[in-house]
Amino acid sequence: MLVIDQISKSFSNKKSHKLALDHVNLTINYGEVLGLIGPNGAGKSTLLRIIASILSPSEGSIYFEGKDVTTSDLIKSKISYISVETGLYEQMTPYECMFFFGMLHEINKREIHKKIEFLAQKFKFEEFLHQKIKVLSTGTRQKVLIAKGLIHEPKILILDEPTNGLDILAAYFVRETISTLKSLGTSIIISTHIITDIELCDQIAVLNKGKLVYNNKFSEIKGKYSSIEQLFLEIDSF
Ligand SMILES: Nc1ncnc2c1ncn2[C@@H]1O[C@H](COP(=O)(O)OP(=O)(O)OP(=O)(O)O)[C@@H](O)[C@H]1O
Ligand SMILES: [Mg+2]
Repeated sequence: MLVIDQISKSFSNKKSHKLALDHVNLTINYGEVLGLIGPNGAGKSTLLRIIASILSPSEGSIYFEGKDVTTSDLIKSKISYISVETGLYEQMTPYECMFFFGMLHEINKREIHKKIEFLAQKFKFEEFLHQKIKVLSTGTRQKVLIAKGLIHEPKILILDEPTNGLDILAAYFVRETISTLKSLGTSIIISTHIITDIELCDQIAVLNKGKLVYNNKFSEIKGKYSSIEQLFLEIDSF
């Protein structure tokens, strides 16, 4: 279980002070998908970066299996944070990039090779495995980025807008992968603006101006609102 406990984050410089997250509390169980939604600038990516230990919170803690991950390195081997901003090494090929990442996670070479072949086949980029990343299309890069993040079989998968820019089939494979990983017990947090991604989620959390303004099971939302847009319209009039 992953517990987000009273997380706040402010960004300050001499000229301005911005409270990007304001005492956010959330819990994600094993094998559940949490959908983090909300308008641009709401604080979604900031929260995801804090969960992934890329940013430290100004206040609050993140607990995984009861341990505070904001003060330990424990999470790094168990988590995967996938965002276009994390990028890929342009001069490397997808194979080299994934191999390097596998080595960082101390997986043995034969195992890494097998996983690369499997993931490249699954996401349909085998034909690009040995081309430089800098010449690949946006969608193929996104596929490589996601496949790279799955090399070490993370227990928590954090996806910041994972289907953005993907073609219809590639987006479908991402969603299929999310469903498969979920059934294997992976906890998944996905930030998205795409309705079909939202439909994969067990729980929906809505952030607005750094505050958690709504949090409910998706099944209950479906019973209450005719669409996600209706939920947003109601939140907007809070
Ligand atoms: N490093 C930073 N320095 C200063 N302000 C920041 C920084 N990172 C984020 N912010 C601010 O914090 C707020 C939340 O940004 P964040 O990127 O988390 O939003 P988001 O919900 O992911 O938006 P989007 O849907 O556009 O991706 C924004 O006002 C943003 O300008
Ligand atoms: Mg964002």
